[in-house]
Amino acid sequence: MSFPSTRMRRLRRTPALRSLVRETIVHPSHLVRPLFVVPGDTTRREISSLPGQYQLGVSQVVPSVAASVELGISSFLFFAIPEYKDDVGSAAWARNGLVQQAMRAVRAELPHLTLIADLCFCEYTSHGHCGVMVDGCLDNDATLTNLGKQAVSLAEAGADVIAPSGMIDGMVSSIRRDLDDAGFTDTVIMSYAAKYASAFYGPFRDAVESAPQYGDRCSYQMDPGNAREALREVELDLEEGADIVMVKPALPYLDIISQVAQISSVPVAAYNVSGEYAMVKSAAAKGWIDGERTMIETLTSIRRAGADIIITYFADEFCARYRQGLTLAANG
Ligand code: PBG
Repeated sequence: MSFPSTRMRRLRRTPALRSLVRETIVHPSHLVRPLFVVPGDTTRREISSLPGQYQLGVSQVVPSVAASVELGISSFLFFAIPEYKDDVGSAAWARNGLVQQAMRAVRAELPHLTLIADLCFCEYTSHGHCGVMVDGCLDNDATLTNLGKQAVSLAEAGADVIAPSGMIDGMVSSIRRDLDDAGFTDTVIMSYAAKYASAFYGPFRDAVESAPQYGDRCSYQMDPGNAREALREVELDLEEGADIVMVKPALPYLDIISQVAQISSVPVAAYNVSGEYAMVKSAAAKGWIDGERTMIETLTSIRRAGADIIITYFADEFCARYRQGLTLAANG
């Protein structure tokens, strides 16, 4: 049957009908809020390229997390700018590192939350690369040893989830072994399985001062032209024991999220990265787009592509909007 008996517009007539038949919704429980811990206990400094996001001193983390919890967020991803950087990034596994301190503080006050630690060295090394450098190249296997130390230190500080983001070969199995050996058999590994060498990380590198001092990350992060390779990365991480696999960035890689969702036997996460957020914010500030509707449409598209979990700087804003009633969601 076709027109005039079939009329697709019948189900689009009212907001209530549209929300009744909407296939994809975003719920606060799907979202993870990233946060940046910095030296200086009471620091609270807005990141100019990420409006609405702050660098937080340790004492500011609990109040900031508590405010998100009020809005409905229960998962947080921690990054830090350390007090000192060196050529291997040893501050990453310091017992009193900033992420470790912040996690202990949150654990003590709000024990029911899911605390996720990004596991990488680019914020911690003086050269800004994601591990140990030998003759200008990232030494894969030496980096694995240090990732294990960092993972155990963060698990000791209360991390429920360890999220290795360095695209180091063998990282999942190696971290799993080191966590298990230290007794952390229940610590989840969320692998940044398919992470692309992307220009969309620009504002993040400002936020954590982690731009490489020389060269780029193209020898470990993926080439944007490749899809098959992403599936292979995911398969390897699944074999190595990843509990959750991630695709990053999200918007320019919705096709990858969709393909990964079809082959993955574990939940799929997508990282709606700093550049994706900054584009929406800057265009909205100029009045060129409606920031709120763009946010909802963006997050809905990432879920529709197949992501179970979305890491996003919009977490708070989305939840505040959600509270007002989301029927409105994709409407307008
Ligand atoms: C690596 C890491 C990066 C991001 C998350 N983890 C940066 C990079 O690979 O250069 C980027 C996140 C974003 O852009 O929001 N530690």
